[in-house]
Amino acid sequence: MASRLNTSLHNALSFLNPFNTKPFSSRNSFRFSKKLASSQSSSVKRALYCTSSFGTHENGGDGAETFVLTTPLYYVNAPPHMGSAYTTIAADSIARFQRLLGKNVIFITGTDEHGEKITTSAAANGRNPAEHCDLISQSYRSLWKDLDIAYDKFIRTTDPKHEAIVKEFYARVFANGDIYRADYEGLYCVNCEEYKDEKELLENNCCPVHQMPCVARKEDNYFFALSKYQKPLEEILSQNPRFVQPSYRLNEVQSWIKSGLRDFSISRALVEWGIPVPDDNKQTIYVWFDALLGYISALTEDDKQQNLETAVALGWPASLHLIGKDILRFHAVYWPAMLMSAGLNLPKMVFGHGFLTKDGMKMGKSLGNTLDPFELVQKFGPDAVRYFVLREVEFGNDGDYSEDRFIKIVNAHLANTIGNLLNRTLGLLKKNCESTLVVDSTIAAEGIPLKATVEKLVEKARTNYESLSLSSACEAVLEIGNAGNSYMDQRAPWLLFKQGGVSAEAAAKDLVIILEVMRIIAVALSPIAPCLSLRIYSQLGYSVDQFNSITWNDTKWGALKGGQVMAQANPVFARIELNPEEEKKPKDSQKTGKAKVRVEQPQTKTVAEA
Ligand code: MSP
Repeated sequence: MASRLNTSLHNALSFLNPFNTKPFSSRNSFRFSKKLASSQSSSVKRALYCTSSFGTHENGGDGAETFVLTTPLYYVNAPPHMGSAYTTIAADSIARFQRLLGKNVIFITGTDEHGEKITTSAAANGRNPAEHCDLISQSYRSLWKDLDIAYDKFIRTTDPKHEAIVKEFYARVFANGDIYRADYEGLYCVNCEEYKDEKELLENNCCPVHQMPCVARKEDNYFFALSKYQKPLEEILSQNPRFVQPSYRLNEVQSWIKSGLRDFSISRALVEWGIPVPDDNKQTIYVWFDALLGYISALTEDDKQQNLETAVALGWPASLHLIGKDILRFHAVYWPAMLMSAGLNLPKMVFGHGFLTKDGMKMGKSLGNTLDPFELVQKFGPDAVRYFVLREVEFGNDGDYSEDRFIKIVNAHLANTIGNLLNRTLGLLKKNCESTLVVDSTIAAEGIPLKATVEKLVEKARTNYESLSLSSACEAVLEIGNAGNSYMDQRAPWLLFKQGGVSAEAAAKDLVIILEVMRIIAVALSPIAPCLSLRIYSQLGYSVDQFNSITWNDTKWGALKGGQVMAQANPVFARIELNPEEEKKPKDSQKTGKAKVRVEQPQTKTVAEA
């Protein structure tokens, strides 16, 4: 069925500005020319070109750069699954890395609570929508706590402060002549909350993302004049190709735009659970138009008066929107056009990652093949879960989860390469040096090539974190661990201690060197596995406060000093053991086998709590 658009009142009303919006302040930081075409594209350039790849900006008066990053706001139709946790884990690691660089980070997450999909799932669970949203939104917050997610702002689209921002934004877009009323007829995917083009659908009008048939809908709606922004969007993308990352997603966005942008409906006549359209309470605002604004309303402070101008001054534009590839069109096409229309700056970068799959299929609430993140964290701890998804999946591409692979990776990397090296070294230090470092790590490393190797790998980790190559960042940190293990094996300090004299002195220095390597690993791994890093730091005799004040500068060689006393050796990461029956099974059948619950991870307060 071809979609049909009948413009009934094309922009006639828009000149009247019935919402009585005040013009925006003339501050350059968020002004955007309301005229389209060429004058607008020069504003676009100004808005987009900035000092670093993410366009961080100074804010807060402490001279530190501000780095604002967002996850999508998650639908509350069902509790979170591992797929939804994936973006947030990645975002938290990026936020932690940027904090280590000394930036003033505002990490935004939250829940998307309006629309048809939510009403239906609330009803199916015998709840009213508000109760349902409270419950599921809370389950997101508790998962973030379990996973050590240190967000700064959590926005719910049902918050009154959000509604105020949405209405003001709608009024600005209306005043700019970009909203009109029309009839629409088309095929709607309730799970995507989106009208679809017939040509993108599978057999029987099935949505390719949710594999479920779309429904025919006909409505009288308000429309956003997206087509007016085709040229400015084309210019933005050609002048700043880094706006959409990874680069292969840019091609996709460019081809959508090239194929012609059609206005889209931004209200729903049949949906009651939403923000009423200003001056027409028979319609509610389309859930996507509403939710995207959560990135701005999240910036507001609860006790202050809410308006766009104050919200924007607190940190807009965002440096980075992290999203899954399925919602790229909303973020890289609709959202920039909406912002241009409202006279606001554009975010600096939209990164569309791939899917976490199970048995090769996108994991999702609608498909029913989810992996319970609460169970996974309960069983293996937050560090293992975080490390696995970030190490195993090349950020940007899809990656598959299997328990077999999970256990292999986590045991080999975290338990053996890192945990075991620390444990062995501390054991030797206790036995031979009363747990005390004999010399400064800088002196111990004189003339030792390992120091230069570690410095090179730290730099590799940094550049990978910066370019969001999170798997490669993990790999670089692990290589530091491998280098430490090779050094230990080559030097065999346990034998040198036995020889006594000068050899024993050299062995004592070797232990200092390896412990300095461990300290550097703890700092460099802290964005990925914060609790594990804290445990390593504690074993090296540091306090929680000292750990909480580390910066990326602490990856420099030389912090451990002679005379420092190390803590009692305790495994920082316990190996996950398969139960004996599972281990006897042939490899293939082990894949579906359940692992025996791990030995409890050593208890330390979570970093978020500390
Ligand atoms: N509510 C919208 C987003 C609005 S943002 C203003 C939404 N919510 S969602 O809960 O359906 O999805 C949120 C994010 O989770 C999306 O980025 C989506 O790609 C991601 N994921 C959902 N399943 C996923 C996987 N299996 N793997 C990786 N990410 C996945 O869309």
